[in-house]
Amino acid sequence: MPVAHQSNKVILTHPSGASAEVYLYGATLTSWKVANKERIFVSEKAILDGSKAIRGGIPLVFPVFGKGKAPHVTAALPQHGFARISLWKLLNSSDDANAVTAEFGLDHTLISEENRKLWPFDFSLVYTVKLAAETIETKLRVHNIGEKSFDFNTLLHTYFLIPDASKVKVIGLSGIDYVDKVLATTAHQEGDIVIKGEVDSVYANVKSPDVQIPYVAEQGGVQLHLKGLSDVVVWNPWAAKAAGMADFGNEEYHKMICVEAGQVAEFIALAAGGSWEGSQILSLL
Ligand code: BG6
Repeated sequence: MPVAHQSNKVILTHPSGASAEVYLYGATLTSWKVANKERIFVSEKAILDGSKAIRGGIPLVFPVFGKGKAPHVTAALPQHGFARISLWKLLNSSDDANAVTAEFGLDHTLISEENRKLWPFDFSLVYTVKLAAETIETKLRVHNIGEKSFDFNTLLHTYFLIPDASKVKVIGLSGIDYVDKVLATTAHQEGDIVIKGEVDSVYANVKSPDVQIPYVAEQGGVQLHLKGLSDVVVWNPWAAKAAGMADFGNEEYHKMICVEAGQVAEFIALAAGGSWEGSQILSLL
């Protein structure tokens, strides 16, 4: 079965041997394997029972980033929005000669009463995961099916599993102004990003749709290709923040980096009846 629906997750298997796993909780992709090697980080302390956002994988940030308050609403939504803490539905699955695809859906009828009050708009999200032999595309479509316009931010908050955070580079963001959330300042990126401590940076309006993460000390790496997305967040909590997170191992910051593609610098306004889509294609270097 190219797409197997288990009680709480969906497993995609490509004839090449590549595979992916997506929890219905948050539509969080928790595994992408190529050549039997895991490429996605999930904390050994991640809570997978649907009581908390999954620490790792690709949580879907929507409709706010961080503790953001969405325009035209009165109270703050949960951190990073409700999409990653809502139970999605498997809408469809298919496969052809190239790829195995699963489509997940969330709409206003599926979110909690509390979140519905905080964000009172009629919406429909469709999240498509398309697994090919050596790539995986994750695409979010947002539909405004109500009569009022709404504004949103979104992020494909990808946690990559890497050999050593202090030895990878993030290439493709040179020459861009960014918000350094650790130092609470703005700065200009010169050259490649190297990780030497806590990093939490928001790059707006990237110039190239491709961001590479070579492993540097060893062969390989991963690449993101952005389609319809213009911002990238780079995050590594490093030691002190890691120690403060109950669902993250104290030493795990060494083997992960989040490079997150999305729209977070500005809200996207979606008129009644309107649709928007953005995606990332992950591949190997
Ligand atoms: C990043 C943010 O996207 O997500 C960070 O820029 C945040 O500020 C990180 O700490 C993790 O967020 P959370 O809510 O999953 O702990």
